[in-house]
Amino acid sequence: MKTLFDTSRLGTMTLKNRFIRAAVHETLPQGRLNEHIVAVYKKLAQGGVGTIITGFALVDAAEKAFPLLGMYEDSFLEDHKRLVDLVHTYTAHIILQLVYVGSYVMGDPQGMTVLAPSAVENLNTHIMPQELSLEGIKHIQKQFAQAARRAKQAGYDGVELHAAHGFLLSQFMTPYYNRRTDAYGGSVQNRARMTIETCQAVRYEVGDDFPLWIKINVRDGFAEGVRFDDVLYLCAQLSQTGIDAIEISGPFTAFPNKATSFFKKEAEKIAAEQDTPIILTGGNRDPKEMTEILNTTRIAYFGLARPLMKEPDVIRGFQQEGIRYI
Ligand SMILES: Cc1cc2nc3c(=O)[nH]c(=O)nc-3n(C[C@H](O)[C@H](O)[C@H](O)COP(=O)(O)O)c2cc1C
Repeated sequence: MKTLFDTSRLGTMTLKNRFIRAAVHETLPQGRLNEHIVAVYKKLAQGGVGTIITGFALVDAAEKAFPLLGMYEDSFLEDHKRLVDLVHTYTAHIILQLVYVGSYVMGDPQGMTVLAPSAVENLNTHIMPQELSLEGIKHIQKQFAQAARRAKQAGYDGVELHAAHGFLLSQFMTPYYNRRTDAYGGSVQNRARMTIETCQAVRYEVGDDFPLWIKINVRDGFAEGVRFDDVLYLCAQLSQTGIDAIEISGPFTAFPNKATSFFKKEAEKIAAEQDTPIILTGGNRDPKEMTEILNTTRIAYFGLARPLMKEPDVIRGFQQEGIRYI
């Protein structure tokens, strides 16, 4: 029987348990790590979680008006090296999450040009973006690749592309936001192209051995959102592209308090269809339920965000005191 505390191989990494801290972003002026964030990650690493995914980091200086972590300049590297070294002293792994937010703006765009697959007003932010040109698409792919190269130089154990939660990459998959009539819009093959090409650009830059993960939405939470058949297609393509892990997510704020492991059914289906390791994130609260999922499906890892925000050492609690956390 498999357990949540098994040591396992995920691509080129050996993970000490199956728990992953799902990304949680913080407000940060000028894109730089600060002592507060470093202390948060130190506590998480001490608390026993096997792998930490950082809050998302912006890949393009074009979005630097937003007060979020950045990986768009080489000058950020030294601070990241220190963070990575610190986390490694607690035998935890750390993965840098990368994002281009697009029209799901995170703060005041301060007159900047906001870009998206198509000129469609964002339902959450009410921003009307400009449609990305083909040059713009290639530029963003390059920015992801350069940010991943910096992550590798800083010593991160890998990167995760944020292709969920309504940010740019997920918007390309969503017919409501993607009304393009060129090679990046229309059919699912075309809507998936931006994500696949971005993965390929990153892979080319960092090489085959550097772990490359992706977080995707299995649905968007509104009627005209992405269809599950499209998601299955995307996952099959990602798998062929050599992605090392797929983290399954979706509209996590839509669930009632007592709901658990929100996207289990979809993750189970995705895991059954291809060999890429699957991380299930959202509502993982009960170690018994997670153990059952682990032993009755091909889902192999569990992402937790809010429980670890409240109690960074909850994993130790699971292991030593058999805590059932809700
Ligand atoms: C305050 C906060 C910040 C978040 N920031 C990110 C982020 O930077 N990147 C991301 O992929 N998800 C982010 N999420 C979503 C979480 O990673 C996770 O998918 C979601 O909270 C569901 O998991 P949970 O039920 O364990 O909290 C954030 C969630 C919260 C509550």
